[in-house]
Amino acid sequence: MAVDYPVNDDPDARLNRLVDLATPFAVRTAVTLRVPDQIAAGVHQLDDLAKACDADPGALARLLRYLVHKGVFTEASPEVFGLTDVGELLCDRSGGGRGAYLDLASNGARTELAFIALPHAIRTGEPSYAQVHGRDYWADLDADPAMRAYFDELMLSQQRFTAPQVATLYPWHEVGHVTDVGGGSGGLLAELLVTHPHLRGTLVDRPEPVATAAQRFAECGVTDRAEGVAGDFFSPLPAGADVYVVSRALTDWSDRHATAILRRCAEAAGPTGRVLVVEVLPTEPYVAHLSSYDLTMLVSVGGRERGEADHVALAADAGLALRNTYSGPAGLTLLEFTAG
Ligand SMILES: C[S@@+](CC[C@H](N)C(=O)[O-])C[C@H]1O[C@@H](n2cnc3c(N)ncnc32)[C@H](O)[C@@H]1O
Repeated sequence: MAVDYPVNDDPDARLNRLVDLATPFAVRTAVTLRVPDQIAAGVHQLDDLAKACDADPGALARLLRYLVHKGVFTEASPEVFGLTDVGELLCDRSGGGRGAYLDLASNGARTELAFIALPHAIRTGEPSYAQVHGRDYWADLDADPAMRAYFDELMLSQQRFTAPQVATLYPWHEVGHVTDVGGGSGGLLAELLVTHPHLRGTLVDRPEPVATAAQRFAECGVTDRAEGVAGDFFSPLPAGADVYVVSRALTDWSDRHATAILRRCAEAAGPTGRVLVVEVLPTEPYVAHLSSYDLTMLVSVGGRERGEADHVALAADAGLALRNTYSGPAGLTLLEFTAG
């Protein structure tokens, strides 16, 4: 198995690097206090930064000097701080941006804080998010519009990569009506409808993303061919579409739950419909044991990373058989299933 460390390094030093918590929290704290944003806006002096960030000057100096040592900030002259190229990344507060993700109040950081209760997840196989935050991941999103908006924006930023690929890889000319199950804020469905003017579409998701998707359909001029349905993909889905797309949603769920979602799709698709699973399948370096993604899925939502064979096995349990596979770049894969 490939290893991710210099094998000749002193084991003590290696262990120290593995267990260090100060650095990840120092970076997140600087982001949470908006230090990078203030520096980018022209505030460089320690006292001015402390005032702008509502921080204790002495404690802030200790934080910043530690992060100077780690290559996040510079201290060109005493108590005058700047950003390195790494520090500049922390100013990005857009969906998918590092600043937005690392802010300790954000959905991204809350997801990672679920690792505090990793022992619970490993003992039970269940997510640990609720142990840390008091309610499960999806309920937490529902409870906070800002967090939900961030999550939907993050999904949209991913769909900017997947949606154009999905729109061209699959033979959509054979399809009249597509339902996007767990379609989020509608980036994929909107792309399909814009690219293929003959298509009609339905999006099923929780109420908040459905409302956001409606705005997106309006912006894209496809409202007359798009319908949003606030629903639950563990309950019966609107029947009769030709294709039921499940894009990057199964990875959020355990095998039992993922099979249940596919079963709902299979029931709605009936004997002639198709179920199209869209996933970015593990490709190096994003293979379960090579990245932290698989464990992040476990602690946050109880999900997991799966390869093609795993999806085929789940689908078989849901009464579906693989018909075709369409491959895009960077592991993007479309698995087409029909009733087995
Ligand atoms: C990881 S996102 C994927 C979004 C989108 N399909 C994409 O490709 O980016 C998973 C989606 O499943 C939705 N979801 C979670 N639980 C759901 C449920 N019980 N019923 C319907 N949708 C649900 C979430 O709101 C979210 O939009």
